Amino acid sequence: MNQMTRPETMLRITTPALAQAFIDEQITQIRAQVGSRKVLLALSGGVDSSVVAALLIKAIGKQLVCVHVNHGLMRKGESEDVIRVFREGLDANLIYVDATDRFLDLLAGVSDPEKKRKIIGGEFIKVFDEEAAKLSGIEFLAQGTIYPDILESIKAKESGKPVKSHHNVGGLPEDMKMALVEPLKFLYKDEVRVVGEALGLPHGMVYRQPFPGPGLGVRCLGAITRDRLHALREADAILREEFDNCGLAQSVWQYFISVPDMKSVGVKDGARYEGWPAIIRAVNTVDAMTATIEEIPYALLHKITQRITTEVPGINRVLYDLTPKPTGTIEWE
Ligand code: XMP
Repeated sequence: MNQMTRPETMLRITTPALAQAFIDEQITQIRAQVGSRKVLLALSGGVDSSVVAALLIKAIGKQLVCVHVNHGLMRKGESEDVIRVFREGLDANLIYVDATDRFLDLLAGVSDPEKKRKIIGGEFIKVFDEEAAKLSGIEFLAQGTIYPDILESIKAKESGKPVKSHHNVGGLPEDMKMALVEPLKFLYKDEVRVVGEALGLPHGMVYRQPFPGPGLGVRCLGAITRDRLHALREADAILREEFDNCGLAQSVWQYFISVPDMKSVGVKDGARYEGWPAIIRAVNTVDAMTATIEEIPYALLHKITQRITTEVPGINRVLYDLTPKPTGTIEWE
């Protein structure tokens, strides 16, 4: 039976030396578990799956097959980063699937957030399954499960309903017959990051802010359209760039743009210009159950507004969400 609790003797991984000891131990364990067989991993580009990929590449090299599914709801440059870091940097056996059209076609006209989540999660599994079916000799499935995931699922089972169906894209069907490889399953997030840095992953990838599995799909509010999704992606990239430039990216827990499905009247070059508003949200939290608002300096808000309204076609206003959680959830959908 799989062990479900962190061993009491396990030291907290806080230093590069402790991370290295963990990595060495895991390499031995993974090699013993896998032998010369093959392992499949859904590599989203998030912290956990990226660290698992880097660890497995160290342990078993090309016996690891990574599949990166671009559902068309990634942030600007994210899929490109995955390819650059893993295929070009670490020589990973990486299959890249651009499934943008499949996802966006299925989502067309769907405005209910929970339906959107279900479509995105379900289609993700389908695409991933199709890729897995093309491969032969895969006996293991690697997952970026971390200790809070285990604790949360135990809690959820015991106590009932979550507020949103936090379907982690990458969740897998129960009838999968492969054995699991979950080298991070007893680590907390901060430990995963220390291990990621010790493995040589880029700082930006290891300290990436949390990003929901359904991605920009729950930030392009209501029924997703390609033009509004594009505007959202560009506006979000500007927000991230400005937060990076002034150091806020390191201290703010989560910051992003949402774009609602409504237009307001504006004016551009002396003419009426109807456009969407971009809504900034920047929050701090410990466990995402409650959250407080980051007080973004006015000059920065002004600069971000100026850039978004001039650089992003379709956006004519920028709003700043001041609502803590509760009453607002972190995501708008
Ligand atoms: P809420 O909006 O519930 O979000 O306050 C709490 C945290 O969870 C993230 N989130 C999701 N993560 N799939 C995910 O993997 C989802 O469907 C999902 N919805 C929200 C959100 O970004 C925040 O970090």
